[in-house]
Amino acid sequence: MIKDEVKKLRMNSPESLQFLNNATKFYNLMMMYRCAIREIQTKLEVLDDEFSVENNRNPISFIKTRIKQPNSIYDKLQKMGYEFTTKNIQTYLNDVAGVRIVCAFIDDIYMISDLITQQDDIKVIEIKDYIKNPKSNGYRSYHMIVEIPVFFAKGKTPMRVELQIRTNGMDFWATLEHQLRYKKGIEEMPGYDEISEELLHSARAIIEADNEMQRIKDKIGKFHEI
Ligand code: GTP
Ligand code: MG
Repeated sequence: MIKDEVKKLRMNSPESLQFLNNATKFYNLMMMYRCAIREIQTKLEVLDDEFSVENNRNPISFIKTRIKQPNSIYDKLQKMGYEFTTKNIQTYLNDVAGVRIVCAFIDDIYMISDLITQQDDIKVIEIKDYIKNPKSNGYRSYHMIVEIPVFFAKGKTPMRVELQIRTNGMDFWATLEHQLRYKKGIEEMPGYDEISEELLHSARAIIEADNEMQRIKDKIGKFHEI
């Protein structure tokens, strides 16, 4: 235990013990979020495996997971006006654990989200369908906040996880847009409006490509299970 190490170093002032106690609680909570991610990831891999055995293709191209960094957690809580405590993290943040599911076709997104929703240990907290209602900048993705019970030695704890389900095309656009826009001060640069317009234009091209691939899949699907 870290606590024992500090005691050995004779640093056991009330402040340092309090700090360590909080740090231990924080890292414990992050461990719980990592476990929740693993549970969800396994469920998704099971669905993908089953589908690929039955239909000879993978609806899920890849899955990416991430835990929100401590400084981002701190910033978000502060913006919301809450103190940085484990209780506030669990109460007010939905996106500490994040799972991005990149699918082959648009209808795979809805299939995966339906199959996850139907699982009786999963509780859907919130859905934002940025595919049917894209953001004004062109961003598209299907977002779900779900709660999943994780079984620890002390008992089960419901943990919240943010799922972002999207096609390869949507992921390509969102990843590049994120890289471009997150350059500091870009909003102030001359010609920013034009850049926003160009990003929207490229999003539209990808919507067209996604829709085209879906139409082709539907055509083939009339004759062969796909
Ligand atoms: P955050 O406070 O950013 O988490 O937003 P929110 O709580 O309103 O949730 P929302 O579902 O709108 O967005 C959650 C996440 O989706 C973000 O953290 C990003 O990962 C992603 N996202 C949302 N909008 C955009 C966008 O315009 N561009 C890109 N690249 N990603 C986005
Ligand atoms: Mg977020």
